[in-house]
Amino acid sequence: MKDSLDVIKNLMEQYEKPFYIYNEGVIDKQIKILTEELSQFEFLYSIKTNPYAPIVDFIVSKGFGADAASANEVIIAQKAGLPCEKIIYSSPGKTRQDIEKTLDKSIIVADSYNELDLINNIAKQRGLNVKIGLRINPDYNMNMGQGISSKFGVDEETLVNRKELFKNLTNIKIVGIHVHLRSQILDYSALYKYYERVFKLAVFCKESMGWELEFINFGGGIGIAYSASNDTPLNVKLLGEKCKVLIERLKNKINARLIIETGRFLVCQAGKYITRIVDIKESRGKKYLIVTSSLNGFLRPSIAELLSSYMPKTSKLQGCEPLFTAKDAFEFTILKNGKSSFEKVSVAGDLCTSADLMAKDIMLPKADIGDILMVSNAGSYAYTLTPVLFASHTPPLQIYIKSNGEIVL
Ligand SMILES: Cc1ncc(COP(=O)(O)O)c(C=O)c1O
Repeated sequence: MKDSLDVIKNLMEQYEKPFYIYNEGVIDKQIKILTEELSQFEFLYSIKTNPYAPIVDFIVSKGFGADAASANEVIIAQKAGLPCEKIIYSSPGKTRQDIEKTLDKSIIVADSYNELDLINNIAKQRGLNVKIGLRINPDYNMNMGQGISSKFGVDEETLVNRKELFKNLTNIKIVGIHVHLRSQILDYSALYKYYERVFKLAVFCKESMGWELEFINFGGGIGIAYSASNDTPLNVKLLGEKCKVLIERLKNKINARLIIETGRFLVCQAGKYITRIVDIKESRGKKYLIVTSSLNGFLRPSIAELLSSYMPKTSKLQGCEPLFTAKDAFEFTILKNGKSSFEKVSVAGDLCTSADLMAKDIMLPKADIGDILMVSNAGSYAYTLTPVLFASHTPPLQIYIKSNGEIVL
């Protein structure tokens, strides 16, 4: 720990600007948990979580494929060395250009009936027969209640009435289904029940729709404990044990690649955001630590402050992922030698907006101007979600520390 804090201090001295630092060792540990406990599944890394090249390259080197959410992410995955069958491209609203650019580089998952037609037309023009997936909006939700209206995929109950349309798709073949309902699930039994329902849906697609399924993509959902005090980590071991039994039971009914997408579980805790306290001031009884690039360096803590100040205590705001998970999702540490007494402070930034507040009234060791501030859980949905160009400030650096200590910029 002391070593890594020294590395951070040295890097700040050297570059004198905010930066993200990613620790390969943490990513490696998370990869091992998933691949050992859920060994029946294949994994795709959700590139949108953090597309920084050394991270993508490392995860790909461990056998993961890619969950691409845009045509450009397909290209990122391809550059990382992945073949077509290991890149699954799923997002709503793909354009003709998106499809033309990615048809031969990924397995495209159609998100609507219009998109099925569009992919079919492009394949026909090129004289190709293309294998694709279809995203389905299931008739259940994560709590196993009724399905909801969604902009994602096609509603499960509409499939049977579209058999004629499916027959006319001369140049595409549906060989996979994709379902994703929610992220950040920590209850293994909820995830298990969800997987069980997706399996059931796959059996329906095979038996009633006649699709020869080569893959079932269960989407994401694997959560992490953001807060050491309020979150219980997902029991991946128990999830794996239950899935093993389920797969054993169903393997005669369906023989397909079983795919899970994952982002934050691999990279969230591997990342820290580092900035410097450049001013300290008091206003009407409150103390403010002013840091370089707060909201415009790492957006999520400010969003957490903003939303939690407006929402009722009981609200979970699950629909706000990945912008918001929970108020106490980030830990703030002042990198200082020796001990000092604690005081109540707010951490704010250098933007001309009062929304630029990373943390309000938190207890931190007494800080001085020039001290370094470290924010946890900055590996996922961090750099890419942040408006780094706002007010023409300089964007933070990204720094990757390999397991052997090598620093990659
Ligand atoms: C379809 C899909 N798959 C996977 C993910 C990755 O989620 P997480 O980072 O929670 O693993 C997301 C996140 O939004 C998603 O929408």
